[in-house]
Amino acid sequence: MLNPNQCIGDNGHLMIEDCDAVELAKEYGTPLYVMSETTVRDNCRAYVKAFDDFYDGNGRAYYASKAFSCLEIYRIVKEEGMGVDVVSGGELYTAIKAGFPAERINFHGNNKTPDELAMALEYGVGMIIVDNYSEFDLINSIADSMNKVVSIAIRIKPGVEAHTHEYIKTGQIDSKFGFAIENGEATSAVEKALSLKNLNLRGIHCHIGSQIFDVEPFVDAASIMIDFIADIKNRFGTEIEELNLGGGFGIKYVDSDTPRNFALYIEEVSKTVKDKTAHLGLKMPFVSIEPGRSVVGEAGITLYTVGGIKNIPDIRTYVSVDGGMGDNIRYALYNSEYTVINAMRADAKAENKVTIAGKCCESGDLIQENILLADTEPGDILAVLSTGAYNYSMASNYNRIPRPAVVMVKGDKHRTVIRRETYDDLIKNDI
Ligand SMILES: Cc1ncc(COP(=O)(O)O)c(C=O)c1O
Repeated sequence: MLNPNQCIGDNGHLMIEDCDAVELAKEYGTPLYVMSETTVRDNCRAYVKAFDDFYDGNGRAYYASKAFSCLEIYRIVKEEGMGVDVVSGGELYTAIKAGFPAERINFHGNNKTPDELAMALEYGVGMIIVDNYSEFDLINSIADSMNKVVSIAIRIKPGVEAHTHEYIKTGQIDSKFGFAIENGEATSAVEKALSLKNLNLRGIHCHIGSQIFDVEPFVDAASIMIDFIADIKNRFGTEIEELNLGGGFGIKYVDSDTPRNFALYIEEVSKTVKDKTAHLGLKMPFVSIEPGRSVVGEAGITLYTVGGIKNIPDIRTYVSVDGGMGDNIRYALYNSEYTVINAMRADAKAENKVTIAGKCCESGDLIQENILLADTEPGDILAVLSTGAYNYSMASNYNRIPRPAVVMVKGDKHRTVIRRETYDDLIKNDI
């Protein structure tokens, strides 16, 4: 399974764009995150085009930068004409430092601090997505003290079941995010927003989960949200201008994953949005989405050097690599599947059952269990595919291991976009 912009070179090495992965590992060291700039840009363009094609440009795709946040990714996304969604003061700060226009930034989070909110208002972000009752008064009072009126959207739980992992499912009533429709919370939230003079209730928002392949949950969520817009109009006489339908589009990690073309999701959802708004006599809202994983996930790989190989007869074979849960926590967190290949023999048949172990002091520090790998020996370079999303952004310094560098490739050119941490970086905040 290779992703877009990956192939196998004549020497049997894995290539990312026109760069040999083994050569990159030699030049930059391992572990190493490598990203294809072309894949990221192609994905951004596909989203921008889909909004032109299916909403006549009356909408926007916001890149959910929790998936991968650094100066360079904000610069690329800005150049490609998308907005961004940020969920912390740190992501917001990075986006602004990258020169991202504040009015194209949406600020999310289920527990934004007063300092983060003040920062968002000072920068003048486009919209704040409100997630709990106390946030209304807090934002209103900060906006009042700055003599500003701030545009907000309310995060709604549409009650849609998405077929994905328990921890990445968010649209149901028992979720820490947002207000449920079915128990009246969402209506009370609208009433509250309308009562505060420094808030402009511009939108409603939902996000039903992540790594979703079916189109139906997105269509169902859109339909429920439009019914809610109609309900708000009937009750309060206010017509919501923006409908934000969140992210969650699935990507390919292993052969059995079956992601659809993003344009298909957008086309299907747009039909429902257009038909329902017309049927209910509503104005067509400005429609937005927030893809994260599907913008950067397949663009990235992680390269490791193999160290010890431990064969425990009749039990399993551990192949240990020089990274682990510090740079990829997703298997330990949600048993996420990945494709792992020997980047030096990418054309060889994978027929040895192995478990890829990290170097951290945790038995659960595994990258994958019982997968098939080509013949591998110490010193080989392994590549884990589709690590562009929620890998670097979830990385830690557990066991005081420095975070790897991120290298971006474009054609046969490559450059560091995040440098490798040093041991001095690890102690720089110690007193
Ligand atoms: C509110 C919101 N929007 C967008 C996303 C991005 O989701 P994905 O990366 O699956 O597209 C998330 C992910 O958790 C989210 O919580």
